[in-house]
Amino acid sequence: MRLVLQRRRSPPTHLVIPMQTATAIAHPNIALVKYWGKRNTALNLPAVPSLSLTLDTFRTRTQVVWGVEHDAVHIDGAPAPEAFARRVTDFLDVISPRRPGCMVLTENNFPSGAGLASSASGFAALAVAATRAAGRTDDRTALSIIARRGSGSACRSLFGGFVEWPMGQRPDGSDSHGIPLAARSYWAVAMVVAVVTDRKKSVASTEGMELSRRTSPFYKSFVDTAAIDLDMARDAVYDRDLEALGTVMERSTLKMHSVMMTTDPAILYWLPNTLAVLHAVRELRSQGIGAWATMDAGPQVKILCMSTDSDRVVDAIRPHAHRIHVLHPGPGASLDEEE
Ligand code: DP6
Repeated sequence: MRLVLQRRRSPPTHLVIPMQTATAIAHPNIALVKYWGKRNTALNLPAVPSLSLTLDTFRTRTQVVWGVEHDAVHIDGAPAPEAFARRVTDFLDVISPRRPGCMVLTENNFPSGAGLASSASGFAALAVAATRAAGRTDDRTALSIIARRGSGSACRSLFGGFVEWPMGQRPDGSDSHGIPLAARSYWAVAMVVAVVTDRKKSVASTEGMELSRRTSPFYKSFVDTAAIDLDMARDAVYDRDLEALGTVMERSTLKMHSVMMTTDPAILYWLPNTLAVLHAVRELRSQGIGAWATMDAGPQVKILCMSTDSDRVVDAIRPHAHRIHVLHPGPGASLDEEE
């Protein structure tokens, strides 16, 4: 069955809307200092600053046709589930409240909803494609602010390499967007992704972080210490100090997961192989290999190391991983010029 969402508002009938198409590509980013909690849920304004690395290889490709009769959203070649389609059309309403109907065709070359940051690449690609299809030429910072409205972490995928996302102070969120810290070519690091399961995550980030804010006794200390972690991580990037960056990254991850686990009801993303990979990473460090782990809202483990050490990391985690990807710093979201 083809999903067709009726528009809630139609453009005035005397206006003829020309149909325009644009296609964009964006890559997921993995937070090294974590975002978990909002100061404003409607605008996706974070309660903490965060810092991320945009990756290569994994990508979302999204085409938007602006000016069709009815909204329609497809993901990976099939009509999108209703909740997903609604999130997409609500986001298009943010871009243009009096917009015409739109068709959105999006596809990921990696599993979505499995803790691999598909919402970050998804809303970054959608922001770029939809604004262009609407005839706009927003700059990257404006696009980052728009992408944030779809999913907070998406604001970081507008930029390549290492990216900071400050909380910002302004109530309208105009100072809370991605800021590029170092380009992808700056540092030859790798992010080894250990996929321990392809199952969808049990609790979505948006609901999980709100529940944590309301119920976890550790939430306040996570928020109160985030700025210190951010400063340390930014300095470590500038100094190309992998040990300092890895150490603060693991600390931020474990703090975030402590908050998740102490949420009521508890959010426990970890599987037995998650823990096995974390121990393998510690074992690597005891053998003198610089490798540090991070995790997001799911059981997968991502390991930061120098590119030259990635083979050693892969060998060490192979017994515990369902699949392994070796990724490197990637570019920011962009229009797909093939269009
Ligand atoms: C655990 O950006 O997916 O990956 O803003 O509610 O859409 P919403 O949440 P989302 O949260 C990502 C949380 C995280 C950590 C991070 O990426 O910083």
